Amino acid sequence: MTKVVKGIYQPTSIKDWGKLEKGSDSKLFEPVKIGAWNLKTRTAMAPMTRCFADDETGVVGDDVVEYYRKRAADGVGLIITEGIIVSLRGKGNPKVPGLYTQEQIEGWKKVTEAVHKEGGTIIAQIWHVGRLSHHELTGFPPQAPSAIRAEGTVPRFRKPYDVPEAMSTEDIQELVGQFAQAAKNAIQAGFDGVEIHGAHGYLIDQFNSDVSNHRTDRYGGDLAQRLTLTKEILKAVIDAIGTERTMIRFSAHKSDNGDYMWEDPELAIRTFTDAFKEVGATMIHPSIMQFTRVLADGKTMHQLVRKYWDGVIVGVGSLDPVTAEKAIEDGTIDVAAFGRPMVSNPDFIQRIKTGLVLEEYEARKHLPVLI
Ligand SMILES: Cc1cc2nc3c(=O)[nH]c(=O)nc-3n(C[C@H](O)[C@H](O)[C@H](O)COP(=O)(O)O)c2cc1C
Repeated sequence: MTKVVKGIYQPTSIKDWGKLEKGSDSKLFEPVKIGAWNLKTRTAMAPMTRCFADDETGVVGDDVVEYYRKRAADGVGLIITEGIIVSLRGKGNPKVPGLYTQEQIEGWKKVTEAVHKEGGTIIAQIWHVGRLSHHELTGFPPQAPSAIRAEGTVPRFRKPYDVPEAMSTEDIQELVGQFAQAAKNAIQAGFDGVEIHGAHGYLIDQFNSDVSNHRTDRYGGDLAQRLTLTKEILKAVIDAIGTERTMIRFSAHKSDNGDYMWEDPELAIRTFTDAFKEVGATMIHPSIMQFTRVLADGKTMHQLVRKYWDGVIVGVGSLDPVTAEKAIEDGTIDVAAFGRPMVSNPDFIQRIKTGLVLEEYEARKHLPVLI
């Protein structure tokens, strides 16, 4: 079982993972079509910020090309990139990549070409951190639904978050346009589509949360009303590149508050899924750090989502091959995403297929390098 240590969910040690009974014949490794994507396997690489882009330009280099190429060659069905910012003001860590200049698009083209050569599928996670930033990173005060400072310090920058600027209606319309443009840029860069980062307490999710959104206009109110920005961005991206190339991620979990949970998880999940349906979304990626955590009515997050969602679900959160296979077999999820173990094992899929020993993920050891 997954252990909880001071709000951080530690996956079961890889040494204790069970082996797949059916080995390479497991459902996890069968091809599947979701949206416009023909995936080699029902596996995904979860989006993971790695901070290996050029800090000045936000352009990725050959090390990033090789990092994603290896995962495609390994047989990962869907690669979801690290968060890629839609504008400079969306930046919350040094050395994160962007998707708003031609130079950045050209950098990503090398990644998508390499992945496609290996028969892989890759989508760009498009991201704006909102208030989880600092003016020294961008030259501007951070933006947010309301002028409420997040608690804590900027990761990898170690300064307290700034008090953000509350966004005007014009700022919000500009932001919607930036997400739509980033989606178009992603297609120009050769990506197979995008995932909108609507999770983890970043800007879109700051609108969704009553902690960070105290607005009294149409972007504030109860959860259904606070989801107005999510719907506008989702609709603009779907209009730009099609629903069959668009996925959205959402969560209760906040980067600045790992323990946050909705007061009524089932109601929240129903409200989120209703909003997604309203604008014609078909593929979602609910995020939780612990896949097996029961939230309500004896059900896990993904089981609650499945109750209200017939479309595609990418599951994630301390999954191991056996729990992933089971969730796919019982129809809870369509594709299983793995994060940390894919950082420490560039050949993760081959290893779980053949039962080979895996390298345990250790942040200190694995994050400073790109293997
Ligand atoms: C180093 C690191 C960076 C991450 N960066 C992102 C990110 O950019 N966008 C995102 O949506 N989630 C991010 N996550 C969360 C992962 O996508 C994933 O949901 C989480 O690691 C749980 O999956 P796992 O238990 O298989 O690691 C990150 C996780 C890690 C460990």
